[in-house]
Amino acid sequence: MILVTGATGHVGSELVQRLAPAGEPVRAMTRRPAEARLPAGVEAVYGDAADPASLASAFAGVDGVFLMSAQAVGAAPEPTHDLALAAAAARAGVSRVVKLSTLDGGSGDDPIAHWQRTAEAAVTDPARGFAWTLLRPGRFMSNALQWAGQLRTDDEVATPFADRPAASIDPADLAEIAALALITGEHAGATYELSGPQSLTPAQELAILGEALGRDLRVRPVPTAAARAGMARYGFPPEVVDAIMRRTLDGDRGSQVLPTAEKVLGRPARSFAQWARAHREEF
Ligand SMILES: NC(=O)c1ccc[n+]([C@@H]2O[C@H](COP(=O)([O-])OP(=O)(O)OC[C@H]3O[C@@H](n4cnc5c(N)ncnc54)[C@H](OP(=O)(O)O)[C@@H]3O)[C@@H](O)[C@H]2O)c1
Repeated sequence: MILVTGATGHVGSELVQRLAPAGEPVRAMTRRPAEARLPAGVEAVYGDAADPASLASAFAGVDGVFLMSAQAVGAAPEPTHDLALAAAAARAGVSRVVKLSTLDGGSGDDPIAHWQRTAEAAVTDPARGFAWTLLRPGRFMSNALQWAGQLRTDDEVATPFADRPAASIDPADLAEIAALALITGEHAGATYELSGPQSLTPAQELAILGEALGRDLRVRPVPTAAARAGMARYGFPPEVVDAIMRRTLDGDRGSQVLPTAEKVLGRPARSFAQWARAHREEF
């Protein structure tokens, strides 16, 4: 039995689609099982990482698990959702764990690094005995869906960091790598730093999205101070906002095209143009 956490999310929903035909029973964890739209044969199960007691039945009988947490960095003193999920996997005797982490997350000495290191260690700790694989992607192409609301009424989109490039990755590629690791067990002990095939600024991504939608889309840059204020309103503590700003504005973090996805998949990683065409309807 394979359990997918975050099964209704960007990576998880692509993953259940790839696991469903592979022959192994698949269970999809969500806080709203009645509403989950899942492929035939996939079992929906209730589980809330904020309520560790709810996880025992979700993890019962599971051999392999895809672990992800949507808990925002700084929402608690430590990554309680990651810790609860890894503990539930250990208690259930899970052997294979694929953990969704983040590129360069654990390096350095800021609150983001501490958070990611703690979250990864909960899976890689030898005492847990998991055969683990860590996926460390940079920016997701699906972050462009944040523009969908503005695009309903406007061809111009307010975007912070509009000129900062990133080699964003299609969550479907992450799902394909996770599926390979869960099904074959061949990627145990691997830490994969992952990117898409091109380094693009949000302004360039918006122009490519415009081509897919047949519209002339433009960026309205958001000043840095307004971006900071937005993150604070979203609930990030000031030290986390500082860390996000430093990570976004200093150096070329996340902008390098990495060879890993192509090596693991045996084909080029999907481009932003491919992602945009596949997700046209969502705009
Ligand atoms: N977005 C990026 O650019 C990026 C880059 C690198 C790494 N990542 C990593 O990717 C993950 C998030 O990806 P995303 O931003 O695209 O989000 P997402 O996949 O849309 O995440 C939402 C998912 O999380 C589940 N979820 C939310 N709260 C939960 C809870 N309390 N208990 C159990 N499940 C819960 C939701 O399930 P239900 O609502 O159905 O319960 C849903 O399936 C994070 O771990 C992040 O660090 C993201």
